[in-house]
Amino acid sequence: MPASEGSLKKIAISDLRSQRWYNAPAMRTFNHRSRTFQIGYSKGDFENKPVIAIVNTWSDFNQCHSHFKQRVEEVKRGVWQAGGFPIEVPAISLSEPMMKPTTMLYRNLLAIETEEVLRAHPVDGAVLMGGCDKTTPGLLMGAFSMNLPCIFVPAGPMLNARWRGHTLGSGSDNWKFWDEKRAGNITDAQWQSMEESIARSPGHCMTMGTASTMTSAAEALGMTLPGAASIPAPDSNHVRMASDSGRRIVEMVWEDMRPKSFVDMSSFENAVGVVMALGGSTNAVIHLIAMARRLSIPLDLETFDRISRRTPVLANLRPSGKFLMEDFYYAGGLRALIRNMLSLLNGDSLTANGRTLAENVADADCFDADIIRPLENPILAEGGLVVLKGTLAPRGAVIKPAAATPALMKHRGRAVTFSSRDDLARRIDDPDLDITENDVIVLKGAGPVGAPGMPEWGALPVPKKLLQKGVRDMLRISDARMSGTSFGACVLHVSPEAARGGPLALVEDGDIIEIDVAERRLDLLVAEEELSRRRAAWREPPPYYSRGYGAMFAKHVTSADEGCDFDFLGPAGETPEPKIY
Ligand code: FES
Repeated sequence: MPASEGSLKKIAISDLRSQRWYNAPAMRTFNHRSRTFQIGYSKGDFENKPVIAIVNTWSDFNQCHSHFKQRVEEVKRGVWQAGGFPIEVPAISLSEPMMKPTTMLYRNLLAIETEEVLRAHPVDGAVLMGGCDKTTPGLLMGAFSMNLPCIFVPAGPMLNARWRGHTLGSGSDNWKFWDEKRAGNITDAQWQSMEESIARSPGHCMTMGTASTMTSAAEALGMTLPGAASIPAPDSNHVRMASDSGRRIVEMVWEDMRPKSFVDMSSFENAVGVVMALGGSTNAVIHLIAMARRLSIPLDLETFDRISRRTPVLANLRPSGKFLMEDFYYAGGLRALIRNMLSLLNGDSLTANGRTLAENVADADCFDADIIRPLENPILAEGGLVVLKGTLAPRGAVIKPAAATPALMKHRGRAVTFSSRDDLARRIDDPDLDITENDVIVLKGAGPVGAPGMPEWGALPVPKKLLQKGVRDMLRISDARMSGTSFGACVLHVSPEAARGGPLALVEDGDIIEIDVAERRLDLLVAEEELSRRRAAWREPPPYYSRGYGAMFAKHVTSADEGCDFDFLGPAGETPEPKIY
């Protein structure tokens, strides 16, 4: 994947940011140089070369990134070959399966770390290595704020899993089979053998969950080399993509190709369109809004809804469809999908290799029209993700109809409320719980402030007694998020959240809730006088954390419709370069 032909060096060695550290007439330069010699580099290794930080989210706790220890060497190889000086920089890894209460609590921490680690060091350009859910937006948010030339190296999906004749999707089928286990249809031994089978290689989840959604969104934004997001992690093409990215970032430094110079509203519209066509994760709404804000781009829920209405779901991938990312790659990958839907995208948008989106997919082929559908034969005609508004969600809520029971997309039912996740865990399987399959399960206090951190609790469990009757889906509403690998008629991200006094806080058992996805409505059918009475009696819950990062998070996090970024990290103002003495 070479750079655009005829690309010219736009900056000189003296313009390199790192020269302020390495080549200034000051005493401190001695330290910078002598400490670089300390780790065994020679003058020729780093002098007058662009310094490329490789921000690596490797950790033994993050199994999705277990190949990054090796892959970083392959990125370095490319940087060396192109005449750069590679420096590996570790960053918090945000392991989706391991971190509690949720990685979302720490996405902004990774964003801060990425921005500040680039600012504080002699860095001219950055390679960002991520993939497991929040690592992609966290790295890109920070890098966008710092606005140095940067390129994203996606971790790549893990290989397909097989278990007792089933093809398993990681992070997805465990939900489905957990319901079967709760219904008594799976033994403990079978459950353990599934644990041993569902994740069989390095790489992020291979369903169209949040990881695949966000790495694909990063590619559609133009922040990766073309085709990078679909390559399975263990594939030798992934190794080559990593080295290509290392070579390309050095060229981007000489070309002074920074995010603010080529990522614009048209790029974000492409990312949103691709997420819709993939039947991507609801989490993309929050992350893309937060990423766009770092570039002062006014992406909002209305943009998602506008693009959702015109974009069919073309990828036949779980949880909306049948296949997994490995199949998607063999079918042609994201380049083939983008080529199929190019008429709905901004083909002129520039990307990291210096070429346009349209140029990058001009020779893309589709090898399986069932997995990557043409526009004339979609999985769903529109609406991979739908934005709802109404008296229950004045500032919006999100649902993924592609992964829900169609009959529940227009529904009216009686609310059965739970005040917290603890309350839900205590009572949901109570045989005496007054609930039928036509009711609406409502969870409060699971939003950015309430939980805190807005965990993926939104796939609320169907009560055991209904599972045993064969019920597998119900209308469920919360201010939480949902794993992109989950499925069900789950309304998520209700804003304002309950802990900030949104209407969700006022819902009581027996209230009637109405959803109409076609009309984009979500309403609480309770008289305004009654709601006023409840509002007057409502009290803000005390914060869960009284000190430290958690307390800072709850104080500064914005609501889901604003991307859950910190209010002090918004687009306003520029952060000056550090003083160097
Ligand atoms: Fe890392 Fe699913 S656990 S992407």
